[in-house]
Amino acid sequence: MVLPEFDSLPATLAWDNDSLSIIDQTRLPRDTVIETLTTAFEVWRAIHELRVRGAPAIGVAAAYGLCVSMQPSRGLPLEAFRAELIEQAAYLDSARPTAVNLNWSLKRMLRAAGQSRAADAASLYRVLVEEATQIHREDQWLCEQIGKHGLPLITAGCGVLTHCNAGALATTGLGTATAPMYIAHREGIAFRVYADETRPLLQGARLTAYELHQAGIDVTLITDGMAASLMARRKVDVVIVGADRVAANGDFANKIGTLSLAIASRHFGVPFYVACPSSTLDLQTPNGSTIVIEERHGDEVTHLAGRQIAPTGVKVLNPAFDVTPHDLVTGFITERGIIARPFEANLAAMFQTQAAAASTAS
Ligand code: MRU
Repeated sequence: MVLPEFDSLPATLAWDNDSLSIIDQTRLPRDTVIETLTTAFEVWRAIHELRVRGAPAIGVAAAYGLCVSMQPSRGLPLEAFRAELIEQAAYLDSARPTAVNLNWSLKRMLRAAGQSRAADAASLYRVLVEEATQIHREDQWLCEQIGKHGLPLITAGCGVLTHCNAGALATTGLGTATAPMYIAHREGIAFRVYADETRPLLQGARLTAYELHQAGIDVTLITDGMAASLMARRKVDVVIVGADRVAANGDFANKIGTLSLAIASRHFGVPFYVACPSSTLDLQTPNGSTIVIEERHGDEVTHLAGRQIAPTGVKVLNPAFDVTPHDLVTGFITERGIIARPFEANLAAMFQTQAAAASTAS
């Protein structure tokens, strides 16, 4: 449960009594399996295998995951604990390359440890837990703010299209792209959502359709190839997607297929918004050309639900994300409001303090 009024939303993860548990998102929507992560490897694997996924959720999981990773070291001398902390953070950071929230949250954990005057390893461990809890709380707050700022985009009778899952399951709150939808629904606004199924791992079908349907929102599942034709039929009034990393000029990485959606939106004159908290901004990266795109195993494309659907030995491309150039974006829905063009100047003006803090920590 995220907030009392949104109790249909699944808890993506929980930290209780120094124990980290997640919903295994690879099993949804058929099975709700809660997994407790007890070692650094289990946390790394959960992120790498998308059991916990979505940029903000990865960030929160990594923060708590670093605490889990450091639990066996609580009896070490302080300096040895600090050295181990740096190694464990680097290890977790290697789980996935594209979502900046992973690196952002681990750096923030290291910064908190670096600034702490804790006298021993056990006390420094408590500082880490406090920082992770703070990152978790902030994530929920960020989603709510994005929801409030994005709310005016959801008007009575409108059609909203989204891609992948930038929902409650991708965060620890109301989601990013879905936050305006949840708030609009709570306010009694009637609208419809089209959820792209999102090949190859079907986050749209398995997760977005699941959580919106659970919440009673009018959601229709579509295949990825249908989006442009729905736009041509004037069924889509606005597109809202999430992001894994937003560069300083507004180019952004998100789930593969986002770029095609942005191009179609431009062609049909549909406003195209990106919902992203400041934890997803990477103002150190000038533009999208240097964003590292995760390449995943070809089996994800040649197989569907464990069954082979393509010829054995066929060549496969499987980048998990693509980069959409900023000129296709109408605006960024952030916790501080909707950022309009020119993005480079406006993102910097709004968020340069965070960027400076992040660069001192790197
Ligand atoms: O590979 P995934 O499922 O982690 O990809 C998720 C996305 O691309 C989301 O759109 C993005 O992380 C934003 S989540 C609020």
